[in-house]
Amino acid sequence: MYRYAIIGTGIPWRTEGSTGFGMARAHYPSMMKNGKVELVGYSELRPDRAQLFREKFNITAPHYLDYREMLEKEQPEIVSVCTWPNAHAELAIAAIEAGAKAVYCEKPIAINWGDCKRMKEAADAHGAILTFNHQRRFIKMFQQVQEAVQSGAIGNLVQIEAECGNMYDWGTHWLDMMFYYNADTPAEWVIGQINSQTDNTIFGAFMEDQAVCHFKWQNGVRGYIVTGHEASIGATHRLIGTEGIIEVLNERKYRVLGKGRGAWEEIEVPQGDWSDLELAAADVVRTLDEPGYKSLLSVDNAIQSTEVIFATYHSSQIHGRVDLPLKYDGNSLLDLVAEGKIGP
Ligand SMILES: NC(=O)c1ccc[n+]([C@@H]2O[C@H](COP(=O)([O-])OP(=O)(O)OC[C@H]3O[C@@H](n4cnc5c(N)ncnc54)[C@H](O)[C@@H]3O)[C@@H](O)[C@H]2O)c1
Repeated sequence: MYRYAIIGTGIPWRTEGSTGFGMARAHYPSMMKNGKVELVGYSELRPDRAQLFREKFNITAPHYLDYREMLEKEQPEIVSVCTWPNAHAELAIAAIEAGAKAVYCEKPIAINWGDCKRMKEAADAHGAILTFNHQRRFIKMFQQVQEAVQSGAIGNLVQIEAECGNMYDWGTHWLDMMFYYNADTPAEWVIGQINSQTDNTIFGAFMEDQAVCHFKWQNGVRGYIVTGHEASIGATHRLIGTEGIIEVLNERKYRVLGKGRGAWEEIEVPQGDWSDLELAAADVVRTLDEPGYKSLLSVDNAIQSTEVIFATYHSSQIHGRVDLPLKYDGNSLLDLVAEGKIGP
């Protein structure tokens, strides 16, 4: 059994006083499902929330107000980081430095590009597995679309399009899926524009109100994502190939046109017995069971799509194309708002 700890329990979405989804309440049962971990401690700044967590899951492991004390005393091998993004870098790096072999951190990676790089550097330096909960990689429908594209069902991939509410909080999931569809190929350049008029803050992180981002992967495929105000491309994701098109309609359904099909064919894909979150947690554990196995949620995958987010902000700041790797370590959206160039 791997020694497992959680930082940040939260309370459930839309319950009185909640500040988010209480993602730890998804991490914990998902980790328990694979039967290979035991909870040795959990840290939460608010004792009332810790108590609700303990009662909900009948937990006997100790609660710690101070996550550093927990890391030192309990020496967990796997640590879930379930706080808001502005704390991810501090907590994930502390867990790695305390000896955790695998960190299962919530998305988005961190609040600026420099922190994202520091997290990966810490993991690499300590030989730790750092993963981010882009759990949609474990939704069967997305996996089927990825397999279809990779096996040539729409010919050669030309462009992947997506729409969502913002580049950062939701965009991190969709950009991650775009990279997933395109076999996690590195990107080459990004050109983008952002607008901000309101105080649009999610999990403590400031978001743009509208963005457009066009980027090119090293294999020539183009990415195109629009967010926020009137962002609609008529599908959640659209994958355009030389011989057909796939449109993702929701997380269970897609449709395909081309390559011998005279009309759109709609395909529904049930999830199966294990949820995406349960499969994601099992994948993190598998990295410890099978040395050399690379998790679909690895920092190497997540950091590529995250770079596109910060490069889009930066492109808007410099009024030009950003050639990767991104050299600016800050968060250009926050800079632009602080300078009064955009923002509420
Ligand atoms: N993967 C997904 O689908 C998904 C869905 C929702 C949220 N999230 C992400 O999950 C993360 C957490 O969101 P949430 O909704 O669970 O937030 P939440 O507010 O419900 O819970 C976070 C908890 O962390 C605690 N905390 C903060 N700093 C701490 C510290 N230093 N030590 C101990 N506890 C600390 C807070 O007191 C709070 O109770 C965010 O990054 C968010 O983007 C992911």
